[in-house]
Amino acid sequence: MDTEVLVLKDPEDPEIIDKAAKVIARGGLVAFPTETVYGLGANGLDERAVAKIYEAKGRPNDNPMILHVSSLEMCERLVKNIPKEAKDCMDMFWPGPLTMIFEKKDLIPDRVSAGLPTVAIRMPSDRFARGMIAKADLPVAAPSANTSGRPSPTKASHVLEDMAGKIDLIIDGGSTEVGIESTVLDMTVKPPMLLRPGGVTLEDLKALLKDVDVDPSLLGGEPKEVLHPKSPGQKYKHYAPKADCLLFGGNLKNIAKEVDRRIRENPDKKIAVLATEETMDFYQEKPYLLLNMGSRDHLEEVAHNIFDDLRHCDEEEVDLIFVEGFDFQGMGQGIMNRLLKACGGKVVLGL
Ligand code: TXA
Ligand code: MG
Repeated sequence: MDTEVLVLKDPEDPEIIDKAAKVIARGGLVAFPTETVYGLGANGLDERAVAKIYEAKGRPNDNPMILHVSSLEMCERLVKNIPKEAKDCMDMFWPGPLTMIFEKKDLIPDRVSAGLPTVAIRMPSDRFARGMIAKADLPVAAPSANTSGRPSPTKASHVLEDMAGKIDLIIDGGSTEVGIESTVLDMTVKPPMLLRPGGVTLEDLKALLKDVDVDPSLLGGEPKEVLHPKSPGQKYKHYAPKADCLLFGGNLKNIAKEVDRRIRENPDKKIAVLATEETMDFYQEKPYLLLNMGSRDHLEEVAHNIFDDLRHCDEEEVDLIFVEGFDFQGMGQGIMNRLLKACGGKVVLGL
């Protein structure tokens, strides 16, 4: 299949919105920008269209998808009931990087929810995404537009790497703003439970809802196979670059010393170090790649860059990636969740 790429200069370009909406309506696949990462979209009410997403991504069948909506009315058509806490969250965070889990109505195919009685819904703030969904007048099922197991795409070039020849259309809207995926919050339990940290922080949620539980499989940091994850996606080794990846925690100068030592110990390996604005000068050894993820004072910058940096390491075919860790606070929680997965849980702590 030929994959067409359309460059979006104006997020409300009526012709491109119309074209993308038509591909969705006729059961095709469109990769499109959202404020978090690029999504791989299909008509969320069409079982066969949704099956194509699993196929293109190589995604396990038991991992359900998010339905993207453009209005509250569209959300109401899909779910059985919207609890008060969810309404408050919608007022505060929609449109935006928050996904909520509800009890689903029967019109949603089992393929979307992977057989669960619940469904994940999100209203993206990206104007193109909302325009396309509204034009199609259909909920759009969309996981991140990467091959399963690869870092999520934050640029159209990332999508092209993974999806060329497998999907109908890619909308190139430039690099996505947030850079990590949406926060997933289960509204079918009381208090609501955080299943995936993301663009909306736990602190933001607690300021609004008072009480928020955190999925126990998140607390330990590393994905634990033994705990049955409430959000099936959390159990897979996601976001993995091709190289071996190791995460370091502790005093930043000590981290640099330890990384320097490991660079000296591995003279034959192509090594990438993912550092931060504040620590770039701490490293004495020169690795093959020294990347600046952004400033520790602006973790949004780090979130914005993280997947692109991991893909950059893949492109350069490095053997080893050493990454600095962050505190589990604010955006740090979402960043660490992705980094721990990229490292398959391999960490060196307490430096
Ligand atoms: O930012 C995002 O959320 C992006 C953009 C494209 O919107 N999408 C995204 O989709 O990250 P995906 O499929 O990569 O991640 C969806 C997550 C998975 O961890 C999945 O297990 C979880 O949401 N999920 C979906 N439906 C669920 C349900 N009914 N119950 C619990 N978790 C669910
Ligand atoms: Mg994903």
